[in-house]
Amino acid sequence: MEARKSIFDLTGKVAVVTGGGRGIGKSLALALAREGADVAIVDINKENADVTSEEIKSLGRRSISIKTDLSKKDEVQAMFKEVMKKFGQIDVAINNAGVSGSRLPSSEDIDINDFKRFIDIMLLGYFMCCQEEARIMIKQNKGHIINICAVAGTRPPRGIQGIAPYAAVKAGVKVMTQGLALDWAKYNITVNTISPGYIITPATEAIIPTRGEMYASQTPMGRIGLPEDIDGAAVYLASDASNWTTGIDFFVDGGLRI
Ligand SMILES: NC(=O)c1ccc[n+]([C@@H]2O[C@H](COP(=O)([O-])OP(=O)(O)OC[C@H]3O[C@@H](n4cnc5c(N)ncnc54)[C@H](O)[C@@H]3O)[C@@H](O)[C@H]2O)c1
Repeated sequence: MEARKSIFDLTGKVAVVTGGGRGIGKSLALALAREGADVAIVDINKENADVTSEEIKSLGRRSISIKTDLSKKDEVQAMFKEVMKKFGQIDVAINNAGVSGSRLPSSEDIDINDFKRFIDIMLLGYFMCCQEEARIMIKQNKGHIINICAVAGTRPPRGIQGIAPYAAVKAGVKVMTQGLALDWAKYNITVNTISPGYIITPATEAIIPTRGEMYASQTPMGRIGLPEDIDGAAVYLASDASNWTTGIDFFVDGGLRI
C-alpha cells in the first residue's frame, strides 16, 4: 500500500514569497521548499534574493529570484507575469516584505512621509500583490494567501516610541485580510494573517542590545523569537491542512499579545 502523504506536504505547489531575501521571509521560503514547494523569491535586494533562491535550488526545488519594488504597481504586475511565465501557477503566496516600525521618533515628531512609506510598502503593496495573486488563483479555483502582520496590529507594544504608524498599517493589513477572505472564499482561496511577536532578524538585530531584555521580559515565554519560529504556522496555512481556515490572525508570539 502506498504511504499516505503528510497533510502538510507541498510537493508540486508553487509559492511566491515577498521579502524572501532575508529575515522572516527567507526562513519561510526555505520552510516551504523543505516541504516540497517550488518558490519564487521576490525582493528589492536582488543579491539577497539570489542567495535564497540558490539555497532553494540546492534543496532540489525550482526557484527564481526577481528584483521588485513592491510599492510600485507596474513592478508588481511585471513580477507576477514573470512568475507565471516560469511556473504557470501560484498555489501559495506569502506577502511579507516590510520595513521596521521601531526606528521612528516619538509620534509628535514623525515625518508624515515615513508613515506614507509604510502605507505604500506594507498596506498598498500587500493589497496590490493580493489582487494579482487572487486573479491567478480565481482561475485555478484554489489558493492560499498569507499576509505577514504583527502583534502590533492588534496591541501596540509598550516601550517603543513612534510605533503608531506601523501599528496602524499592520491593523490595516489584518482587517484588509479579513475583507479579502470574505471576497475570495467563493473561489476556494484562503486569506490569513500571521502575527509574529518580537523576532530577531536583520531588521531588528541592531536594537536587540538595547531593547532585547525588554522584549524578552514582555514576552510570557521569556525569549525573543527566531525567524524559524514562524515556519510551522506558514507551512500549515500554505498546505491542504488549512483548506477550511480563512480570515484568521495566527499569532506566533510567545504569548506577547495576551
Ligand atoms: N522582526 C520582527 O520582530 C517582526 C515582528 C512582527 C512582524 N514582522 C514583519 O515581518 C516582515 C518581515 O520582517 P523582517 O524582520 O524579516 O524584516 P527584514 O528587513 O529582515 O526583511 C524584509 C525584507 O523585505 C524587503 N523589502 C523591503 N521593502 C521592500 C520593497 N519595497 N519591495 C520589495 N522588498 C522589500 C527587504 O529587502 C528585506 O529583504 C515584515 O512585514 C515585518 O513587519 C517582523
